[in-house]
Amino acid sequence: MKFPLLLTFRALAALTVLALAAHAAPAIKIGFLVKQPEEPWFQLEWTFAEQAAKEFGFTLVKIGAIDGEKTLSAIDNLAAGGAQGLIICTPDTRLGPAIVAKARGAGLKLLAVDDQFIGANGQPMTKVHYLGISAGKIGEDVGKTLAAEMKRRGWTPADTALCAVTYDELATAKARTDGAISSLLGAGLPQNRIFKAPVRTTDIPGSLDAANILLTQQPNVKHWLVCGSNDNLVLGGVRALEGRGFTADTAVAVGINGTDCIVELEKAKPTPFFGSMLLSAKSHGYETAKMMFQWIKDGKEPALDTRTVGVLITRENFRQVLKEQGVRD
Ligand code: GLA
Repeated sequence: MKFPLLLTFRALAALTVLALAAHAAPAIKIGFLVKQPEEPWFQLEWTFAEQAAKEFGFTLVKIGAIDGEKTLSAIDNLAAGGAQGLIICTPDTRLGPAIVAKARGAGLKLLAVDDQFIGANGQPMTKVHYLGISAGKIGEDVGKTLAAEMKRRGWTPADTALCAVTYDELATAKARTDGAISSLLGAGLPQNRIFKAPVRTTDIPGSLDAANILLTQQPNVKHWLVCGSNDNLVLGGVRALEGRGFTADTAVAVGINGTDCIVELEKAKPTPFFGSMLLSAKSHGYETAKMMFQWIKDGKEPALDTRTVGVLITRENFRQVLKEQGVRD
């Protein structure tokens, strides 16, 4: 009786050692900070990042930070809470050097998503790992779609103009609207039919204000084309046009994100919002989280620069495509 009891004690001791060892290995904790937590785009990024957290077994800390102060103090809190990595879409890309310094000081691995950091010299910080969209190409596709719709409707350059709702302070936003403008110029829309409506805030009210100023200045345009850096900026332009009596028959707008315009596409009566370039929220949420997890756990460093693509969704195909991409059930 004594012998088996001894074995049991030994087994117990071994188990205790194992349990202690498991406890000693720090649990992986990753912060995911976004600049506009109210935007469906960023909520979807979080949802997909959470999928990765569940699958790989790490803790995801979601942080909404709308200014620099909140961003920098969030990094301190994360570090104090034992996190080892941060994925971030910063509210201001010029905070790049300060974020890098803080993350380095706290021993946090860093991955910028969506908006690339800008260094003190005004250039992108290409040494900071980044995953974003191929902004110029996606913008060009917006322009091509608008040009094709203009042609299909038989609108002429003389009675058509472009309202580009711009936010040139953000590089990825500027690249998008620049891309759309260059496609339209290439398709024969003259430079003097291209108008920019610069926003002060990157939300629908900000865009509505900007577009209203332009529409007041250009009362004689018969047909409007609208592009912008994302769905919300394009939706503000659409609301401004509707306020002046434009409809799906007299204006065409194409967004970017594809995630923030679903209610618009579901409306029974078509609005001027024709469609959107759907981006891959899954790559931006799930893949970044997975990359960060593997970097922390196995030392597998992600690629320095990853760019994702977009695909056009319209009222005809959006339900199907959103389902295929896992955005909707
Ligand atoms: C920027 C925009 C977002 C979204 C992402 C995609 O951060 O503000 O709405 O388009 O880029 O990378």
